[in-house]
Amino acid sequence: MIEMQDHIAVITGAGSGFGEATAYRLAREGMPIFCQDINEENAQRTAAKVREGNGRAEAIGGDVASEADVKAMFAACRSAFGDCTLLFANAGYARLSPFVEMSVEEFDRMVAVLLRGVFLCDREALGPMLEKGEGVIINTASQLGHKGANEMAHYAAAKAGVIGLTKSLALEFRAAACGSTPSAPAPATPRSSTTSPRSGSRRRPPSCRSGASAKRGRSPRPWPSSPDPAGPSTPARPLGPTRAT
Ligand SMILES: NC(=O)c1ccc[n+]([C@@H]2O[C@H](COP(=O)([O-])OP(=O)(O)OC[C@H]3O[C@@H](n4cnc5c(N)ncnc54)[C@H](O)[C@@H]3O)[C@@H](O)[C@H]2O)c1
Repeated sequence: MIEMQDHIAVITGAGSGFGEATAYRLAREGMPIFCQDINEENAQRTAAKVREGNGRAEAIGGDVASEADVKAMFAACRSAFGDCTLLFANAGYARLSPFVEMSVEEFDRMVAVLLRGVFLCDREALGPMLEKGEGVIINTASQLGHKGANEMAHYAAAKAGVIGLTKSLALEFRAAACGSTPSAPAPATPRSSTTSPRSGSRRRPPSCRSGASAKRGRSPRPWPSSPDPAGPSTPARPLGPTRAT
């Protein structure tokens, strides 16, 4: 059994939100963190903050929808720290799009980032995990993958795919002691910009406002608030504060 501090973590979408907050949290456990984001500057910022807190971290830019970028990410992690033993496949974006107006390109891009991205990362991580006989994969899904979503059919369909893929891996690799878990968050506002690993008294621990806290009267961040960083051809429509993913 690998102890927490012996894991080597790869986090996609580590430049902000859940990915960034998770990087700080895992670094506090003593794990080296390999940060990835399509926004390389943000990924580098997260890694730098981990190092400021005496953690170990490196970063790389890349698109999880690209097989070449995903392979390069795992190779770079191997060179820096060794093979990944804990993957948080988390990168994603969301946007509103009325179904009858949704273009094929928009649908395909959403599925490529959310679902193919998880497939590529999981597949690349699993080889060395199977050789070692241990590993952990956490894929970020969404409650909307279960419930569906108004004007977000592409997002909900892709997240439903993530849930099916993750459950299938859990069955296929059960005997290999490689765990895969779908994480299906309710609307949340990860607050991580002021956190860093191994915090002293001046540094606040990572925190995350969940759907439960929203129910207690605090409103969640309007979501989806993150258009495709690769640049969709049309701007995302703004959302009200109660839309949940
Ligand atoms: N925030 C919520 O309420 C909520 C709810 C359910 C699910 N989720 C899911 O959680 C995950 C993280 O969301 P978040 O709220 O932290 O959003 P966020 O926008 O703060 O973080 C997502 C990160 O992923 C990166 N990214 C986007 N496309 C990428 C790509 N092709 N390749 C690599 N990196 C890419 C972005 O640059 C960004 O840094 C997403 O998969 C999202 O769908 C979020």
